[in-house]
Amino acid sequence: MASLRLLLASLVLSSLLCSTYANVLFSSLKRTLIVTASPPQGAVLKAGVDKITVTWGLNQTLPAGTDSAYKTIKVKLCYAPISQKDRAWRKTEDKLSKDKTCPHKIVAKPYNSANKTVQSFEWLVERDVPTATYFVRAYALDSAEDEVGYGQTTDVHKATSLFQIQAITGRHTTMDICSICFSAFAVVSLFGFFFNEKRRAKKGEK
Ligand SMILES: *[C@@H]1O[C@H](CO)[C@@H](O)[C@H](O)[C@H]1NC(C)=O
Ligand SMILES: *[C@@H]1O[C@H](CO)[C@@H](O)[C@H](O)[C@H]1NC(C)=O
Repeated sequence: MASLRLLLASLVLSSLLCSTYANVLFSSLKRTLIVTASPPQGAVLKAGVDKITVTWGLNQTLPAGTDSAYKTIKVKLCYAPISQKDRAWRKTEDKLSKDKTCPHKIVAKPYNSANKTVQSFEWLVERDVPTATYFVRAYALDSAEDEVGYGQTTDVHKATSLFQIQAITGRHTTMDICSICFSAFAVVSLFGFFFNEKRRAKKGEK
């Protein structure tokens, strides 16, 4: 009983917390950052072995003050559309809080508006990155951690400068299947909880 109350309390709390997040739409963001990544178009990198060098900086031809709200730059590895086909969990959503295109964080760094030189970061492709085709995107976040600008290595159609990452053999499918099983399990056990509770409540009444 206590655990059920705890479960309910945390569900309510988490939905409250979630609803306080701003619903930033990707389509509302300006492309203000220039982002590059080292792998050439079509390169095949190995997870856990190869490195990517990412650079980012403000597009200097934009009007002064474009970056006045920028506090942090968050760089992410994103699935290209080709890797989203038949994989609903990698889906693109305009509402960024629901977008699953860019699940892998590469780095987050404070934005220094006094130093607009191009920044760079070398990233060892993490071992748990699944086999897929990718590009790199950077978001500029404001002090509330909301996205206020972006830049990416590929064009608007996400067709250019794509590269592949090859997972450590056999790992990616297992990981994907695991995450599906886990969410199915979570839903089923939640239903189980409620059903059980209802039955008990009915018994209690009699
Ligand atoms: C930089 O901004 C200008 C003006 O909006 C735009 O024409 C240009 O394509 C941008 N450059 C890059 C590399 O995004
Ligand atoms: C600007 O940033 C670059 C890259 O991080 C750094 O090497 C350089 O020293 C910085 N310049 C100033 C004036 O802070």
